Amino acid sequence: MILDGKKIALARKIKLKKEIEVLIQKNQRQPSLKVLMVGNDPASETYVAHKLKVANELNIKAELIRFDFDVKHAELYSKIDELNVDENVDGILLQLPLPKSFNEEDYLQAISPSKDVDGFHYINQGRLLQGYETIYPCTPLGIINLLEDYNIKLTGQNVTVIGTSNIVGKPLALMLLNKKATVTMCNKNTIDIKKHTKSADILISATGKKFIITEDMVNSNCTVIDVGIIRDLTTNKLVGDVDFENVAKKVKNITPVPGGVGPMTVITLMENTLKLYKNK
Ligand code: GUN
Repeated sequence: MILDGKKIALARKIKLKKEIEVLIQKNQRQPSLKVLMVGNDPASETYVAHKLKVANELNIKAELIRFDFDVKHAELYSKIDELNVDENVDGILLQLPLPKSFNEEDYLQAISPSKDVDGFHYINQGRLLQGYETIYPCTPLGIINLLEDYNIKLTGQNVTVIGTSNIVGKPLALMLLNKKATVTMCNKNTIDIKKHTKSADILISATGKKFIITEDMVNSNCTVIDVGIIRDLTTNKLVGDVDFENVAKKVKNITPVPGGVGPMTVITLMENTLKLYKNK
């Protein structure tokens, strides 16, 4: 089965739109999301445009605040401080990557944990580590929601996660642990990666390396989640970490690229914005 992230995200969007309509009526205020972007990384431009479009369709008031790549560090801090105390702002998103002269950690940690729509603040990640309710990062939560909306069981399952980033791999592994899955995390230095992918009931690849997952690495009962979004320079098409054409023939379930994890990330950002709005 193809796990259709686009379809699931659309169903969640319809539900979310209704909920937001009711809350706007009741509170006389729209949920508000501020997106900060420094410089003009081409992939970020595409992602941010998409986030703003979906927010707008949901009656979430989203504003893009742009900074030149050489903005003074103090200016970016002072904007974050201003938004942290603005009662009309629910969520603050600092689009990554930042230009090289910025230490991303410093700015992500400057965002108030109560407005941290990406769930990247130490406090929110610490709560996740200890299994407390928090704001969860959008891509990992989107993946868990996709699996659960398809009734794919997590409890007791062997889940292998390839990639250990702070944005996807690490928080996702913790969320799966909290769901009582048995989680294996692989990184660049993993010896015999195939051993870990072959034994997986669910394989999640988040490396950004084209076709790193091939047909010989998976078992026929596996559910494969592809987090990679890579522009193939020869065909100019988007591809993933997984050699979809060959792997899809073999496995039980698989997400496509595009139309798998990507739409789930965006709708989860909107769901997180609403969660922060309701927390107020
Ligand atoms: N850049 C790539 N992925 C993400 C994400 O999940 N959040 C932010 N803020 N920037 C990103």
